[in-house]
Formats: sequence, structure tokens, C-alpha cells
Amino acid sequence: MDLGLKGKKAIICASSRGLGKGCAQALAEAGCDIVLNGRNETVLEETRSQLQNLYGVSVAAIAADVSTREGQEALLTACPNPDILVNNNGGPPRRDYSELDREALLEGVVQNFVTPIELIQAVVPGMKERGFGRIVNITSLSVKMPIEGLDLSSGARAGLTAFLAGVCRQLAPHGVTVNNLLPGKMDTDRLKGGFERAAQQSGKSLEDVRAAQAAEIPARRFGSAEEFGQTCAFLCSRHAGYITGQNILMDGGLYPAAF
Ligand SMILES: NC(=O)c1ccc[n+]([C@@H]2O[C@H](COP(=O)([O-])OP(=O)(O)OC[C@H]3O[C@@H](n4cnc5c(N)ncnc54)[C@H](OP(=O)(O)O)[C@@H]3O)[C@@H](O)[C@H]2O)c1
Repeated sequence: MDLGLKGKKAIICASSRGLGKGCAQALAEAGCDIVLNGRNETVLEETRSQLQNLYGVSVAAIAADVSTREGQEALLTACPNPDILVNNNGGPPRRDYSELDREALLEGVVQNFVTPIELIQAVVPGMKERGFGRIVNITSLSVKMPIEGLDLSSGARAGLTAFLAGVCRQLAPHGVTVNNLLPGKMDTDRLKGGFERAAQQSGKSLEDVRAAQAAEIPARRFGSAEEFGQTCAFLCSRHAGYITGQNILMDGGLYPAAF
């Protein structure tokens, strides 16, 4: 399917690895010129040259913390008029709610609520002017289904979801859509970190922890960054102009609900 994205410009935050990279790869494959981001310069450069060689589109790389003003400015300088913004970030580490002091709480809110909103505020005027814009926010299954130790991440992302539920209706007349992609258990470095922690705590092998977690998912497997990225690219495509304000779960059926 031609996604109608050839020559479009996309900023994909936190995209040197994992789900962000999956989105960047799918958008580059669809013909977008992309701006990648991550803090580790070596990994970022590897991804930049990999995607440049594979797809021949323009691939810029901004090594910066996307939660900082400087990081955001650097991204917007590299791509002042993006047609597509994929909001992504690391997210706060797993921690019991009772251990979160004020500083930690504010940091989580800045990462998963303030940062995506600031970037949306920056890119929307140009999108409205051009009559086309696609914003995809990577949130989490934990917005719908609590996960122990991820309360801050869930709360900040649920706040973002509610905030944008109103905003997306304001942007709809201008051809700008805003949607959220909710990963369940996707096979990335982040998930592997979780397996290692669980293996240490339980004394089980990594393989056993992995197999037990996969068995709990109706699809009996973890999701891949590639399939996640392709879904993101579809939401950015010309075919998805009538989809806005949606929360799309990618969890292999893990969240047990009819709606
Ligand atoms: N994987 C899952 O199953 C899952 C499930 C639910 C929600 N999520 C959420 O989805 C998002 C992506 O997860 P993932 O699994 O793809 O993680 P990942 O494999 O750990 O990759 C994270 C990516 O973000 C970059 N990054 C992290 N913090 C950054 C920052 N402050 N500024 C710029 N870049 C930053 C990392 O590069 P550097 O480290 O070099 O900066 C890396 O490229 C996270 O918010 C995560 O909480 C993931």
C-alpha cells in the first residue's frame, strides 16, 4: 500500500533503539525524511547510517535528552516544519509509588506529559498552515491496566491522553490528527531489562521468566518494534486522516476487554 508519505518530514523522538526506532524505520521505508533522537551518540549514529543506507532518504540524528528545552530546540532546528511528530521518551524507572519524592514525581511528569505537549505546541502551527499533520504518541498499556511500580509513568501518560483528547478535536478541522499507540509487551531492550530484574528477584532463569510472561499473552509472544512501527506509519499515512483521538492497543490481546 502506498502510504502517501514520500517526501514528508518526520521527527521521531527517542528513536535510536526500540519502538521509536521501529517507527523511524517504517516512516523512512515509506519515503519520509526523518530526524532521529537518542542520548547515546554511538548507538544513534549506528541507527542513522543503517536507515540512511537502507532507504536513501535524508536521516538526521540529534543526540540530546528530549525532555530538555535544548534537546527540543535542537530537534526543531533540524526539522523546523515537520509533517509528522512521533512523541516518545524513556519513561521513569519502575519504583514503588511510596518511594517517589517530589523531584521524582515532577521528573516523570516532565518526561511523559510536559515534553510531548511542548513539542506538539511547537509543531502544530505549521501543520495547520499546511493543512496536514500527524502526531502519534507512544504511551502504554499501563494507561488502561495498572502495572505495579509504573504508577508514575501510567499517571503522567493518562494525563497526556486526557489532555490531548480535547486538543485533537481542535486540530481535526485543519487536517491534523493526534493518536496514541499503547504498547503492551514489546520485545525491546526495556522489556529485557524487566526480565533480568524478575529473574534476579525470583531466582529463575531468564528463559523461564521470558516463557512464563509470553504464556500470559493470548498471542503467546511479545510484539516487535517492526510491527509497532508499521502501525505508526499507517496512522501517519494519508489513509488515516479520519482517525483521530484514538488509543490503539498493541498487546496481543493481553488487555481483557470487549471495548
Ligand atoms: N517495550 C515495551 O514493552 C513497552 C511497554 C509499554 C510502554 N513502553 C514505553 O514505550 C517507550 C519506548 O520503549 P522501548 O521499549 O522502545 O524502550 P527502549 O528499548 O529502552 O528504547 C528507548 C529509546 O529511547 C531513547 N531515550 C530514552 N530516554 C531518552 C531521552 N530522555 N531523550 C532522548 N532519547 C531517549 C533511548 O536512547 P538513549 O538511551 O541512548 O537515550 C532509546 O533509543 C517507553 O516510554 C516505554 O516506557 C514500552
